[in-house]
Amino acid sequence: MTLPVIAIDGPSASGKSSTGSAVARELGWVHLDTGALYRGLTRVALDGGNLSDTRGILASAEARGLALSRAGEEVVVLLDGVPAEPVIRTPEVTAAVSEVSALPGVRDWANTRFRAAAEGGVHLVLDGRDIGTAVFPDAPLKIYLTATPSVRARRRLEQLAAEPSPQALAETTARLTARDLADSTRTVAPLRRAPDAVELDTTALGFEEQVERIVSLARQIWLR
Ligand code: CDP
Repeated sequence: MTLPVIAIDGPSASGKSSTGSAVARELGWVHLDTGALYRGLTRVALDGGNLSDTRGILASAEARGLALSRAGEEVVVLLDGVPAEPVIRTPEVTAAVSEVSALPGVRDWANTRFRAAAEGGVHLVLDGRDIGTAVFPDAPLKIYLTATPSVRARRRLEQLAAEPSPQALAETTARLTARDLADSTRTVAPLRRAPDAVELDTTALGFEEQVERIVSLARQIWLR
């Protein structure tokens, strides 16, 4: 049977999560934002005051019930018995997540949970950095989503304020570029386009259009 997995990878703020979510909704599949679990692990590491102690981070993660949980068409991250969403989107977490996610033991722990989410024939759209290269190298559909750093920074800021200032744009562009560099130069599972991934540069593409392109590629594979 064809593995029912769509892998969407790409650099920071390239629209992977909102695209993945919309693709899953259109297909009636389930969406999993893998970066959210790395953010949850980073939250736990920051709270424990140590960003490099893999055993300590994973012990706290288990003790605090850090886990993936299916909620309709989304897989959400739980921490301390509640959705982790607000506490994993802080600037503090964003600044530390590349360091924590570079730890091999942390990645193994997360990967076990991503693969478990696909068990039992769940049709899954996952977005991240290494889904098509390391987590599900056999995924029949792999997308690599890109856009120029300044366009990505503008989109990220527009989620928060209507018209970002030139200074905010410059700062956010610099932070995104630094995180991309860290994610793509780490030793384990670096951010990189899988050779068989379809590259979608969304710099000049509308959101609906990028979603439709992926949905139509999926239909060619799964509705043959
Ligand atoms: O939303 P944004 O693009 O800012 O980032 P994210 O998807 O929430 O991912 C946060 C961080 O988690 C990334 O910068 C990577 O360091 C890490 N990550 C990873 O290493 N592997 C993944 N499959 C997903 C995220």
